Amino acid sequence: MRRWRPSAPPTDLLFNYPLLIMKKLIALLALAGVVSIASAADIVGDAKAASNKVSMCIGCHGIEGYKSSFPEVYSVPMIGGQSAKYIVAALNAYKKGDRNHPSMDGVAASLSDQDIADVAAYYSQQKK
Ligand code: HEC
Repeated sequence: MRRWRPSAPPTDLLFNYPLLIMKKLIALLALAGVVSIASAADIVGDAKAASNKVSMCIGCHGIEGYKSSFPEVYSVPMIGGQSAKYIVAALNAYKKGDRNHPSMDGVAASLSDQDIADVAAYYSQQKK
């Protein structure tokens, strides 16, 4: 059943609407096999530019079988050698809250689209 809506949409709808559209867009793009957000489509990742950006990832990622113990014991997935598209999609998912993890939410939120493209290029070029 459709809910009645006043002619002036409530502010929460106004606020959420672009987000809803973005989510639909992302779902569509993902379906089409283009896992990237619309605005990031023309951003090219530069692995060299990432070298100073990955310094904050290295503490957790990149050590084989590494486990971190804060706030609870968890294993950290290896991302070296992972496809750039996957890394971009994962980071955007944490950034938007589609995927949640106490450590990664904060990390992803601090990255711009260009940062994400750069670190994805960097890690995808790393040997497994
Ligand atoms: C404090 C530790 C920590 C830091 C720092 C960190 N990560 Fe993570 N990362 C994790 C953990 C733990 C997971 C798995 C979380 C989960 O289960 O969703 C993860 C997951 C990921 C994933 C998804 C991997 C998969 O297999 O789905 C990507 C991509 C990623 N991190 C990239 C990065 C990048 C790039 C940086 C640096 C900019 C970074 N992380 C910094 C702990 C960290």
